[in-house]
Amino acid sequence: MSPPSGSVNGARELFIGLMTGTSLDGVDAVLADCAPRVPTSLAHVHVPMPPTLRAELLALNASGADEIHRAHVAAQDLARIYAATVTSLLENSKLKSSDVRAIGAHGQTVRHRPDLGYTVQLNAPALLAELTGIDVVADFRSRDVAAGGQGAPLVPAFHRIVFGSDRPRAVVNIGGISNVTALDGERVMGFDAGPGNVLIDGWMAAHFDAAFDAGGALAATSLPDKELVDTLMSDAYFSAAPPKSTGRDLFTLDWVRRAARARQLDARVVLASLTELTARSIGDAIARWVPAAEDVVVCGGGARNSTLTRSLQRRLGASRPVRTADELGVAGDQVEALAFAWLARCHLHREAGNVPAATGARGPRVLGALYPAA
Ligand SMILES: Nc1ncnc2c1ncn2[C@@H]1O[C@H](COP(=O)(O)OP(=O)(O)OP(=O)(O)O)[C@@H](O)[C@H]1O
Ligand SMILES: [Mg+2]
Repeated sequence: MSPPSGSVNGARELFIGLMTGTSLDGVDAVLADCAPRVPTSLAHVHVPMPPTLRAELLALNASGADEIHRAHVAAQDLARIYAATVTSLLENSKLKSSDVRAIGAHGQTVRHRPDLGYTVQLNAPALLAELTGIDVVADFRSRDVAAGGQGAPLVPAFHRIVFGSDRPRAVVNIGGISNVTALDGERVMGFDAGPGNVLIDGWMAAHFDAAFDAGGALAATSLPDKELVDTLMSDAYFSAAPPKSTGRDLFTLDWVRRAARARQLDARVVLASLTELTARSIGDAIARWVPAAEDVVVCGGGARNSTLTRSLQRRLGASRPVRTADELGVAGDQVEALAFAWLARCHLHREAGNVPAATGARGPRVLGALYPAA
């Protein structure tokens, strides 16, 4: 395979997408060619989040002492990691910074309160532009929030391009939070269904000294407790109609432990129950709001949790097969980062990136702000 070239072959439009999702597992960086109608990934790097920065970003999800200062210090640390991932992408691909049109850098969400008119993604885009010598597009969500939207999910427009088919389909990204995109011909809508990996990861860290439940193997050793799952499923978030979005603000281990039953059960049973809750909330959301879907495509890290995907398949029934993005030829771990490379391209072309039917915004808006490299 010959190395990708941006400036030599003028037909390419190279962008880099940088995603750090709610799971806080690390940075996904994708070098994308956005010239074709369906953008393609030319290279991918995943850099695990350093434990100290991860702990600080987690802490910054709640108010604490001197948080404005700490947030700005953490944002710069994150930008330095972003810059290092950009450098390794360029080195691996034998490219120069001038070959890349722009970086789409999502930043780390630490608060998500569209109901109060704000959502905060910690980021230092000016520093990132300075360190990389590449234009940076950042702060994608606030423009949608300003137009009365949730600022999330922002991937549905991209899902339509990549996964659109002539049959109605649901796409589920199982990141920290799970989000569903409904595709039906030209029509597209979407919403956050609820927790993705966030509760499973939190429970694994608290009880099993592990970052996540690899393959869903530990959850598979116990049966879920129906009473606990029913209690947690009674939260108003699950029955609320879209548009809706959520984050770590709502789905916390405190939220789990508020159910008395969670405090009585063996930790493995709770893990199995949280895995079941995740599958059930996604399955119910599809049944309720995407009833026409003939198949379901799963992407994001949660697609690797077989206990979760098996349970989702059971709930949806054999007539609605659950396939991984990888089975359709799209690397499921790269979809979100690829989406933000494409959203950076949309910004430069002054094209709207949001789907008002997904976010609830008053209309299509050009997302993000540009930080020129020079
Ligand atoms: N082999 C695996 N088995 C089970 N779960 C896995 C596996 N690999 C990754 N995961 C889960 O996926 C999570 C990371 O997924 P992902 O990167 O898609 O989420 P994210 O960073 O929150 O992204 P986003 O918000 O962009 O969707 C991990 O925290 C872990 O819970
Ligand atoms: Mg991630």
